[in-house]
Amino acid sequence: MPSTASASTSDPAAFRPRFDIGAQRMDCGREPHVDTHQAADERASWPLLDYSDCEPTDDQAAINRWLQGASLDGADVLHVGTGNSSVARLLDGRARVVSVTVARGEFEHAQSLGLHDYRVHLLNKHGLEFGERFAAASFDCILDNNLASFACCQRHLERYFDALARLLRPQGFVLTHWQGMQWTLDVGVDDVEPVWRLDADKLEAIAAAFGLATVREGELFFLRRAARG
Ligand SMILES: C[S@@+](CC[C@H](N)C(=O)[O-])C[C@H]1O[C@@H](n2cnc3c(N)ncnc32)[C@H](O)[C@@H]1O
Repeated sequence: MPSTASASTSDPAAFRPRFDIGAQRMDCGREPHVDTHQAADERASWPLLDYSDCEPTDDQAAINRWLQGASLDGADVLHVGTGNSSVARLLDGRARVVSVTVARGEFEHAQSLGLHDYRVHLLNKHGLEFGERFAAASFDCILDNNLASFACCQRHLERYFDALARLLRPQGFVLTHWQGMQWTLDVGVDDVEPVWRLDADKLEAIAAAFGLATVREGELFFLRRAARG
């Protein structure tokens, strides 16, 4: 049975949240893995996880338009949510791209492209394995248009943000988009708590808990290491 905020606070060994935006499900009690969203994917009547055959979402497309003019030559880029590998194809020859997906179709499609500086990993960003796989890595740019859209609980969302903050190089940034911030998994199976539909204030509160400052440019949100006071 998932623990709630009150259960966590009564157990000193339990998870201690670093921020409070009103989430109820503190710890889902299940280690996230590649198939965690499988039942939801099977319930959905539209593509939920596997976008290997789809055009990028509007939010991903907006991020990609920004990438076109960005100074990323020679950069290391982490793209969370591979889709049809639009980011890797866009940056091919300019940057090294590493991508993460839970969709086997996206994983196989990415591998079939044969791009020289592109690596794809089949893993859940909320799982322990995410931090372990990239233990020696760091990135100039991390892209995730669905930062909290698939959050099973606060504990695992925090684990992901903890990893992101660690993976960022000193001048690096996380880039996300308003539209993806507003969307959460909601198909009637393993739904994500509506609290994880982020607005600017919630994103700022979460980022701050991991030492990151948020800057908005239109519909794009950049998270960078906060300057020490
Ligand atoms: C709706 S698709 C979007 C794909 C692409 N970013 C786009 O917007 O066109 C959702 C993406 O998020 C990935 N994803 C969802 N939950 C994930 C998780 N817990 N860990 C890693 N990737 C996840 C899926 O594998 C898929 O690549």
